[in-house]
Amino acid sequence: MEISGSKALVTGAASGIGRAISLKMSEAGARLFLTDINASGLEQTRRMITDRGGEVLVSLPLDIGDFSGVKGLADTIHSRFGPLDILVNVAGIAIFSQVEDMLHADWEKIVRVNLWGPIHGIECFVPEMIRSRRPGHVVSIASTAGIIALPWQAAYSGTKHALVGISESLRFDLKKHGIGVTVVCPGAVNTGLVQTAQVQADRQAVERLRRLFLKLAMQPEKVAGLTIDAIRKNRFLVLTSADIMVLYFLKRALPPLYRLFMQLLTKFMDRSLRPAGTA
Ligand SMILES: NC(=O)c1ccc[n+]([C@@H]2O[C@H](COP(=O)([O-])OP(=O)(O)OC[C@H]3O[C@@H](n4cnc5c(N)ncnc54)[C@H](O)[C@@H]3O)[C@@H](O)[C@H]2O)c1
Repeated sequence: MEISGSKALVTGAASGIGRAISLKMSEAGARLFLTDINASGLEQTRRMITDRGGEVLVSLPLDIGDFSGVKGLADTIHSRFGPLDILVNVAGIAIFSQVEDMLHADWEKIVRVNLWGPIHGIECFVPEMIRSRRPGHVVSIASTAGIIALPWQAAYSGTKHALVGISESLRFDLKKHGIGVTVVCPGAVNTGLVQTAQVQADRQAVERLRRLFLKLAMQPEKVAGLTIDAIRKNRFLVLTSADIMVLYFLKRALPPLYRLFMQLLTKFMDRSLRPAGTA
């Protein structure tokens, strides 16, 4: 769909992929609503956009896991500006852990942000988009962990697989309303998440793995560019690099080889990331 002149909400806009998408959407002519739990980062993004001549209609810090906060934002936007044209669910957190080291609070926290967050966005904004009878688009930033259940990421993979599932249903349900759906599954991206991800393992091992992750990581601007392209061309699934495409192909076409690879990857992760206290 056409981005120029559209009204778009980006969650997780204070940093990383969300900030890069906000900047690129603004460059493409979108008028933006921005939100994030990080108020100072959000203000920085707002200023970066307005300094470049872009338009931010509303910028409001909130916790995406808090339904009443998201509903309040939706009420404000709908009463002052009408329905969205584009919803971009980006806000997310990461926890890497062996299941026996996960507290109940860890499970709750990641489901609240990564799953309830996008659900709140969809629940509070998509019905109004449908009622507007105008073309629209719903984007969710999932992860490679949304199509490949990665070792040490049972909780993260669970939330991201669910987000891919929701997106796939919506892809078919919303077509009759002229609303496109995109789910983006990036591999490693160099963002704030690399530092804030909660990794429940030996500290030195975590630092070594972080360095390796950063060597493989792409810049968030690349993910943002692919996302904008997918909105314009109404592409459903966006995989951001060739290695993920190959692995996803293996999973569907050559399951025994995929199993072998995943077993080796799990061994590598187990050796690299010993659970805390076992170093
Ligand atoms: N960085 C990667 O390697 C990578 C890979 C695949 C997918 N992703 C996904 O991309 C998305 C963006 O992450 P990023 O890499 O840009 O990381 P990031 O940490 O730079 O950005 C995430 C943003 O979400 C916000 N956020 C966290 N909890 C929130 C809450 N409760 N309410 C509102 N906002 C909240 C943070 O403040 C932050 O600004 C996430 O959903 C993440 O799972 C990241």
